[in-house]
Amino acid sequence: MLNIIICGAPGCGKGTQSELIVEKYNLKHISTGELLRKEIENQTEIGFIADRLISKGNFVPDAMAIGMIINAIEDSPNKGLLLDGFPRTLEQAIAFETILKERNSKSSVLINLEVTQHELLNRLLDRGKTSGRSDDVLDTIQKRLRIYHLKTEPMIRYYESFDNSYTINGMGTVNEVFSRISEVLDKRL
Ligand code: AP5
Ligand code: MG
Repeated sequence: MLNIIICGAPGCGKGTQSELIVEKYNLKHISTGELLRKEIENQTEIGFIADRLISKGNFVPDAMAIGMIINAIEDSPNKGLLLDGFPRTLEQAIAFETILKERNSKSSVLINLEVTQHELLNRLLDRGKTSGRSDDVLDTIQKRLRIYHLKTEPMIRYYESFDNSYTINGMGTVNEVFSRISEVLDKRL
Protein backbone atom coordinates (compact mmCIF):
# COMPACT_ATOMS: atom_id res chain seq x y z
CA MET A 1 0.00 0.00 0.00
CA LEU A 2 1.41 3.39 -0.95
CA ASN A 3 1.47 6.20 1.57
CA ILE A 4 1.65 9.78 0.42
CA ILE A 5 3.02 12.70 2.39
CA ILE A 6 1.94 16.18 1.41
CA CYS A 7 4.19 18.88 2.79
CA GLY A 8 5.14 22.48 2.27
CA ALA A 9 5.10 25.74 4.14
CA PRO A 10 2.09 26.92 6.18
CA GLY A 11 -0.66 28.00 3.77
CA CYS A 12 0.79 26.20 0.72
CA GLY A 13 -2.50 24.29 0.24
CA LYS A 14 -1.86 20.95 1.98
CA GLY A 15 -5.35 20.71 3.46
CA THR A 16 -7.09 21.92 0.30
CA GLN A 17 -5.24 19.48 -1.97
CA SER A 18 -5.54 16.60 0.53
CA GLU A 19 -9.33 16.65 0.23
CA LEU A 20 -9.10 16.22 -3.54
CA ILE A 21 -6.35 13.58 -3.37
CA VAL A 22 -8.11 11.30 -0.85
CA GLU A 23 -11.26 11.38 -2.93
CA LYS A 24 -9.52 10.50 -6.17
CA TYR A 25 -7.17 7.83 -4.79
CA ASN A 26 -9.31 6.45 -1.93
CA LEU A 27 -6.83 7.18 0.86
CA LYS A 28 -7.28 8.00 4.52
CA HIS A 29 -6.53 11.67 5.24
CA ILE A 30 -4.56 12.28 8.42
CA SER A 31 -3.78 15.89 9.31
CA THR A 32 -1.86 16.20 12.57
CA GLY A 33 -2.83 19.89 12.70
CA GLU A 34 -6.54 18.98 12.50
CA LEU A 35 -6.11 16.20 15.10
CA LEU A 36 -4.41 18.65 17.45
CA ARG A 37 -7.13 21.28 16.95
CA LYS A 38 -9.69 18.60 17.88
CA GLU A 39 -7.74 17.83 21.07
CA ILE A 40 -7.76 21.56 21.89
CA GLU A 41 -11.49 21.79 21.25
CA ASN A 42 -12.13 18.75 23.48
CA GLN A 43 -9.92 20.27 26.22
CA THR A 44 -7.82 17.12 26.61
CA GLU A 45 -4.40 16.97 28.24
CA ILE A 46 -2.75 16.83 24.79
CA GLY A 47 -4.93 19.77 23.72
CA PHE A 48 -3.80 21.84 26.67
CA ILE A 49 -0.10 21.37 25.80
CA ALA A 50 -0.71 21.77 22.05
CA ASP A 51 -2.69 24.98 22.44
CA ARG A 52 0.17 26.84 24.10
CA LEU A 53 2.69 25.68 21.49
CA ILE A 54 0.53 26.14 18.37
CA SER A 55 -0.67 29.64 19.26
CA LYS A 56 2.98 30.72 19.48
CA GLY A 57 3.86 29.06 16.17
CA ASN A 58 5.93 26.26 17.73
CA PHE A 59 5.78 22.56 16.89
CA VAL A 60 4.41 20.04 19.39
CA PRO A 61 6.98 17.46 20.61
CA ASP A 62 7.92 14.75 18.09
CA ALA A 63 6.70 12.00 20.46
CA MET A 64 3.24 13.58 20.59
CA ALA A 65 2.93 13.77 16.79
CA ILE A 66 4.28 10.23 16.31
CA GLY A 67 1.87 8.87 18.96
CA MET A 68 -1.09 10.40 17.13
CA ILE A 69 0.03 8.85 13.85
CA ILE A 70 0.41 5.40 15.38
CA ASN A 71 -3.17 5.63 16.71
CA ALA A 72 -4.48 6.79 13.33
CA ILE A 73 -2.73 3.93 11.49
CA GLU A 74 -4.13 1.40 13.95
CA ASP A 75 -7.63 2.75 13.33
CA SER A 76 -7.46 1.86 9.60
CA PRO A 77 -4.69 -0.68 9.11
CA ASN A 78 -5.67 -1.62 5.54
CA LYS A 79 -5.92 1.75 3.90
CA GLY A 80 -3.21 3.82 2.21
CA LEU A 81 -2.55 7.06 4.04
CA LEU A 82 -2.41 10.66 2.91
CA LEU A 83 -0.37 12.41 5.56
CA ASP A 84 -0.89 16.16 5.75
CA GLY A 85 1.59 17.99 7.98
CA PHE A 86 3.36 14.86 9.18
CA PRO A 87 6.28 14.15 9.26
CA ARG A 88 7.45 17.68 9.93
CA THR A 89 10.91 16.97 11.28
CA LEU A 90 13.70 14.57 10.33
CA GLU A 91 13.11 12.66 13.59
CA GLN A 92 9.42 12.17 12.74
CA ALA A 93 10.30 10.96 9.23
CA ILE A 94 12.80 8.39 10.49
CA ALA A 95 10.34 7.14 13.13
CA PHE A 96 7.54 6.94 10.57
CA GLU A 97 9.58 5.03 7.96
CA THR A 98 10.63 2.59 10.71
CA ILE A 99 6.97 2.01 11.61
CA LEU A 100 6.16 1.37 7.93
CA LYS A 101 9.03 -1.10 7.60
CA GLU A 102 7.82 -3.00 10.68
CA ARG A 103 4.44 -3.29 8.99
CA ASN A 104 5.98 -4.36 5.67
CA SER A 105 4.51 -1.25 4.07
CA LYS A 106 6.26 0.56 1.22
CA SER A 107 8.13 3.75 2.05
CA SER A 108 6.27 6.97 1.36
CA VAL A 109 6.14 9.28 -1.63
CA LEU A 110 6.52 12.93 -0.71
CA ILE A 111 4.75 15.76 -2.51
CA ASN A 112 6.31 19.10 -1.68
CA LEU A 113 4.16 22.11 -2.62
CA GLU A 114 6.13 25.26 -3.39
CA VAL A 115 4.46 28.65 -3.00
CA THR A 116 6.11 32.08 -2.76
CA GLN A 117 6.44 33.68 0.68
CA HIS A 118 4.30 36.62 -0.50
CA GLU A 119 1.44 34.31 -1.55
CA LEU A 120 1.68 32.28 1.70
CA LEU A 121 1.31 35.43 3.77
CA ASN A 122 -1.63 36.65 1.67
CA ARG A 123 -3.45 33.31 1.92
CA LEU A 124 -2.99 32.97 5.67
CA LEU A 125 -3.81 36.58 6.53
CA ASP A 126 -6.91 36.29 4.39
CA ARG A 127 -7.94 33.03 6.06
CA GLY A 128 -7.21 34.57 9.47
CA LYS A 129 -10.14 36.99 8.98
CA THR A 130 -12.58 34.11 9.46
CA SER A 131 -10.72 30.93 10.53
CA GLY A 132 -10.60 31.57 14.25
CA ARG A 133 -7.19 29.82 14.25
CA SER A 134 -4.96 31.29 16.94
CA ASP A 135 -1.93 30.87 14.67
CA ASP A 136 -3.37 32.85 11.71
CA VAL A 137 -2.02 36.22 12.89
CA LEU A 138 0.97 38.01 11.37
CA ASP A 139 3.59 37.44 14.12
CA THR A 140 2.71 33.77 14.50
CA ILE A 141 2.55 33.21 10.73
CA GLN A 142 6.08 34.63 10.40
CA LYS A 143 7.28 32.37 13.22
CA ARG A 144 5.63 29.32 11.58
CA LEU A 145 7.45 30.12 8.33
CA ARG A 146 10.81 30.42 10.14
CA ILE A 147 10.31 27.12 11.98
CA TYR A 148 9.26 25.45 8.74
CA HIS A 149 12.55 26.39 7.05
CA LEU A 150 14.58 25.34 10.06
CA LYS A 151 12.93 22.03 10.96
CA THR A 152 10.93 20.76 7.97
CA GLU A 153 13.35 21.38 5.11
CA PRO A 154 15.85 18.78 6.47
CA MET A 155 12.98 16.24 6.40
CA ILE A 156 12.38 17.04 2.71
CA ARG A 157 16.13 16.57 1.96
CA TYR A 158 15.85 13.12 3.63
CA TYR A 159 13.12 11.97 1.18
CA GLU A 160 15.01 13.55 -1.73
CA SER A 161 18.03 11.45 -0.79
CA PHE A 162 16.19 8.27 -1.75
CA ASP A 163 14.39 9.68 -4.78
CA ASN A 164 10.93 9.54 -3.24
CA SER A 165 10.16 13.19 -3.47
CA TYR A 166 8.40 15.44 -5.99
CA THR A 167 8.45 19.22 -5.82
CA ILE A 168 5.29 20.68 -7.30
CA ASN A 169 4.46 24.28 -8.11
CA GLY A 170 1.68 25.24 -5.67
CA MET A 171 0.91 28.58 -7.33
CA GLY A 172 -2.20 29.01 -9.49
CA THR A 173 -5.75 27.82 -8.98
CA VAL A 174 -6.67 24.86 -6.75
CA ASN A 175 -7.50 22.81 -9.87
CA GLU A 176 -4.26 23.69 -11.62
CA VAL A 177 -2.26 22.52 -8.61
CA PHE A 178 -4.36 19.36 -8.32
CA SER A 179 -3.70 18.48 -11.99
CA ARG A 180 0.05 18.75 -11.38
CA ILE A 181 -0.21 16.49 -8.32
CA SER A 182 -2.41 13.99 -10.18
CA GLU A 183 0.09 13.77 -13.01
CA VAL A 184 2.77 12.59 -10.57
CA LEU A 185 0.52 10.29 -8.53
CA ASP A 186 -1.07 8.65 -11.59
CA LYS A 187 2.40 7.36 -12.47
CA ARG A 188 3.07 6.06 -8.94
CA LEU A 189 -0.28 4.55 -7.93
P1 AP5 B 1 -1.25 22.57 10.37
O1 AP5 B 1 -2.68 22.63 10.64
O2 AP5 B 1 -0.73 21.46 9.57
O3 AP5 B 1 -0.86 23.98 9.74
P2 AP5 B 1 0.23 24.44 8.65
O4 AP5 B 1 1.23 23.47 8.26
O5 AP5 B 1 0.75 25.71 9.21
O6 AP5 B 1 -0.61 24.66 7.38
P3 AP5 B 1 -2.06 25.23 7.20
O7 AP5 B 1 -3.05 24.20 7.64
O8 AP5 B 1 -2.16 26.58 7.80
O9 AP5 B 1 -2.08 25.44 5.64
P4 AP5 B 1 -2.23 24.34 4.49
O10 AP5 B 1 -0.93 24.09 3.85
O11 AP5 B 1 -3.03 23.18 4.96
O12 AP5 B 1 -3.07 25.19 3.45
P5 AP5 B 1 -4.65 25.28 3.24
O13 AP5 B 1 -5.10 24.25 2.28
O14 AP5 B 1 -5.33 25.38 4.55
O15 AP5 B 1 -0.47 22.63 11.74
C1 AP5 B 1 -0.79 23.61 12.70
C2 AP5 B 1 0.19 23.54 13.86
O16 AP5 B 1 0.05 22.28 14.53
C3 AP5 B 1 1.68 23.62 13.48
O17 AP5 B 1 2.14 24.94 13.36
C4 AP5 B 1 2.31 22.91 14.68
O18 AP5 B 1 2.32 23.76 15.79
C5 AP5 B 1 1.32 21.81 15.00
N1 AP5 B 1 1.64 20.57 14.28
C6 AP5 B 1 0.91 19.96 13.29
N2 AP5 B 1 1.51 18.84 12.86
C7 AP5 B 1 2.64 18.71 13.59
C8 AP5 B 1 3.70 17.76 13.61
N3 AP5 B 1 3.71 16.71 12.76
N4 AP5 B 1 4.72 17.95 14.47
C9 AP5 B 1 4.74 18.99 15.33
N5 AP5 B 1 3.79 19.94 15.38
C10 AP5 B 1 2.73 19.80 14.51
O19 AP5 B 1 -4.73 26.68 2.48
C11 AP5 B 1 -4.45 27.89 3.14
C12 AP5 B 1 -5.43 28.97 2.64
O20 AP5 B 1 -5.19 29.22 1.27
C13 AP5 B 1 -6.91 28.55 2.74
O21 AP5 B 1 -7.68 29.66 3.06
C14 AP5 B 1 -7.23 28.03 1.32
O22 AP5 B 1 -8.58 28.18 1.00
C15 AP5 B 1 -6.33 28.91 0.47
N6 AP5 B 1 -5.85 28.23 -0.75
C16 AP5 B 1 -5.47 26.93 -0.87
N7 AP5 B 1 -5.04 26.69 -2.12
C17 AP5 B 1 -5.13 27.86 -2.79
C18 AP5 B 1 -4.82 28.25 -4.14
N8 AP5 B 1 -4.34 27.37 -5.05
N9 AP5 B 1 -5.02 29.53 -4.49
C19 AP5 B 1 -5.53 30.44 -3.58
N10 AP5 B 1 -5.85 30.13 -2.30
C20 AP5 B 1 -5.64 28.85 -1.91
MG1 MG C 1 -3.75 22.48 6.83
